[in-house]
Amino acid sequence: MIKELVILLSVACYASVLPKDFTWGSATAAFQVEGAWNISGRGPCIWDYFQNCPGRIALNQTAEVADDFYHRYSQDIQIMQTLGIKNLRLSISWTRILPTGDINNINQAGIDFYNQLFNALISAGIQPWVTLFHWDLPQAYNNFTNQSTWLNPDVVHKFNDYADLCFKSFGDRVKHWITMNEIQTFAWIGYGVGGHAPGRCSPDINSWCQSVGGGGNSSTEPYIVAHHALISHGLAVQTYRNKYQKTQGGKIGMTINSGYAVPWNVSDPEDHKAVDVSVAFSYAWFGDPQAFGQYPEEMTSRITGGRLPSFNASTSALLKGSYDFMGLNYYTSQYVHYTGIPGTDFGNDGRFTSSPYNASGNLIGPFAESTWLNVYPKGLRDVLKWIKKRYNDPDIYIFENGVSCPGESSLPENLALNDTFRMNYVFDHVMEMVDSVLDDHVKVKGYFLWSLLDNFEWADGYNVRFGITYVNYNNNLTRTIKDSGYMYSNLIQYLRTAP
Ligand code: NOJ
Repeated sequence: MIKELVILLSVACYASVLPKDFTWGSATAAFQVEGAWNISGRGPCIWDYFQNCPGRIALNQTAEVADDFYHRYSQDIQIMQTLGIKNLRLSISWTRILPTGDINNINQAGIDFYNQLFNALISAGIQPWVTLFHWDLPQAYNNFTNQSTWLNPDVVHKFNDYADLCFKSFGDRVKHWITMNEIQTFAWIGYGVGGHAPGRCSPDINSWCQSVGGGGNSSTEPYIVAHHALISHGLAVQTYRNKYQKTQGGKIGMTINSGYAVPWNVSDPEDHKAVDVSVAFSYAWFGDPQAFGQYPEEMTSRITGGRLPSFNASTSALLKGSYDFMGLNYYTSQYVHYTGIPGTDFGNDGRFTSSPYNASGNLIGPFAESTWLNVYPKGLRDVLKWIKKRYNDPDIYIFENGVSCPGESSLPENLALNDTFRMNYVFDHVMEMVDSVLDDHVKVKGYFLWSLLDNFEWADGYNVRFGITYVNYNNNLTRTIKDSGYMYSNLIQYLRTAP
């Protein structure tokens, strides 16, 4: 309670700066929450296969049931109503509507499911913000022998068919589309180190990673995968603009994950340069093609051996300007240190290393339960400022920001509900965002908290929780709002209604 009063008092001075139409929301993704993996004609995706390979997911857990959102979404809508959350970012499961990924094989039950879901949201006063690809590629494309998946340029057209079907079926109600979620993550972890589906991690394009951590890193595939995903984005945006945007009146873009680095040694100018390079290797890798139709110079000049594909005149034109807004998923930042060692694989193509500790051994911020996440709220403001400058002041949405609390997943429910660590994280990040609007004049138009629910956290299974709602996996998936949920609710209500 005291914490909440402090929060309300401290936001009071900011309240009037946020535009009245600022979007506050929360986020989920189909594979992480829906479950119902084999219900009503859903086809398999690459994660259905990957999670069944022993050792790939912590404790060999699977998302076959997950939060059973497929059957229980009405409860989750009620939670959002209780909290006054009026926007939900969620994704469509590609294989629920196209079980084999083939446009000639539409699963009407899948279309019906999303129709019911979107209708239920809208009648509850909640706008759906829809991600088309949140990592659950049809398994049918994942052909072992012909090296398909995102490595195959044909997937670009398959994605376009799927996107077209979504626009046609749901675009009368869905007014915001996010084509791709975090291309860097699925390209690098899925095809560089093999920790995500489809589990590729070999420098040899003909071999697949057979065991966890085996096979080394691929220095080529993440770039090819990302290239095809970018072109898919461009084509889907073109389709939307040519066929639907005028009549449906919606907007489209993608979301990109990025931190903002800090020099490992502040007195070393090379470490300052490494900061710019690291943001180019995360945000600009996808931001530059959208804004300028080409990869950032920081990448083209460093990635050797022809491993970075290039855009030709037509793909460049397709990508250039292919966004109505820019999306950002921000969680953490790292110290970066220039090594000068040219890339032998994706990990050091930028010629820097990253670490949560600096040269003096200081930690950038407290560790979350996720091993990759250190809390560094200022990085959010820094990266927002960087986006504004590099891309000439675009509209920006923060599509993900959130945290797993240290030790939370092993606490009993009654203790896990008191998630002060998350309350502080959310509050501090929202304040950085408000400062960025107020002082840096960045056009941030919305903020989506990850996540509405505890859910299947990819390779970490259920052993890391990001929800503002606790899901009890040992007790019939009951949902209970955590303290952070109430705090977020008060915060957004105040910021919404303040004079
Ligand atoms: C990014 C991903 O989009 C989401 O699926 C994931 O759960 C969160 N980060 C937390 O790791």
